[in-house]
Amino acid sequence: MTTINQPLQGRTALITGASAGIGYDTALHLGSLGATLILNARRESRLIELAQRLSDQYPTSDSTPRAVVVAGDASDDQIIDQMLSASEHFNQQTPDLVVVNAGRGLAGSVLTSDESQWEEMIRTNLLGASKLIRRAGNALADLQSSRDWPQGGAADLLVLGSTVGRHISPFSSMYGATKFAVNSLAEAARRELGPKGVRVTLIEPGIVESEFQGVAGYDEKSFGDLMSRVSPVLTPMDIARSIGFICTQPPGVHCSDIVIRPTRQDYP
Ligand SMILES: NC(=O)c1ccc[n+]([C@@H]2O[C@H](COP(=O)([O-])OP(=O)(O)OC[C@H]3O[C@@H](n4cnc5c(N)ncnc54)[C@H](OP(=O)(O)O)[C@@H]3O)[C@@H](O)[C@H]2O)c1
Repeated sequence: MTTINQPLQGRTALITGASAGIGYDTALHLGSLGATLILNARRESRLIELAQRLSDQYPTSDSTPRAVVVAGDASDDQIIDQMLSASEHFNQQTPDLVVVNAGRGLAGSVLTSDESQWEEMIRTNLLGASKLIRRAGNALADLQSSRDWPQGGAADLLVLGSTVGRHISPFSSMYGATKFAVNSLAEAARRELGPKGVRVTLIEPGIVESEFQGVAGYDEKSFGDLMSRVSPVLTPMDIARSIGFICTQPPGVHCSDIVIRPTRQDYP
């Protein structure tokens, strides 16, 4: 049974890329709303610390863990299978809230970016996201067909796109190309899965300060100038709150696309 303060009680959220940034804060926020969690990223020690923090801060009524960890590459088939089947820990056939978040940036355009990093970026941002959308989408459709809709509850698949997957970025058009692809995949999945009672939501953030900028290799001077011109930039928790808002709507209400920018970010 859900309560006003714990609207996600009884739901299990799978979050990829939960060791830092948006994924980390989304885990904290969804845990605070009552969800149990499956946490994925490659840095296992960080996930174990986060799972412990969640269990301490939001103990479950029967003292089972609030969160379990499936460490590894989010584009690896076996890891994806393990993530989805980890809902067994919470006596659920599948996670009913999946956040396709693991990803990385890359400074530069198709002409100037570091080509040696293209494969890893495309594997994580596009192939990994596509595989999870496919497998989680099928599992969520099966879940919804096994129970009455809307009384049976909501099922959510949330995909992290970007404002640079909607407008061409002068700073990172090669990275942006992966997010343009994710944008179209999410909308295609929404059209297929919405009629089956599954909400597929595209979240497109503007600039969020996280580990992302360092991993992408942005030039500190020019990106720093942009950050200070549009400051304050977003925090990961700003995105997490929006994810919480979307998932706590009644099953028949769907905010399918959400663009969140720092107020002073004019472009992209
Ligand atoms: N920050 C922004 O300005 C911004 C704007 C728009 C969209 N986004 C998108 O939002 C998502 C999260 O970004 P963020 O800002 O939170 O970045 P972040 O702080 O760098 O976090 C990225 C997360 O993804 C994980 N990750 C990376 N590659 C992975 C892989 N192959 N398998 C599993 N986990 C992997 C990282 O953990 P490990 O290293 O431990 O694996 C980390 O937990 C990304 O999809 C990004 O493209 C970010």
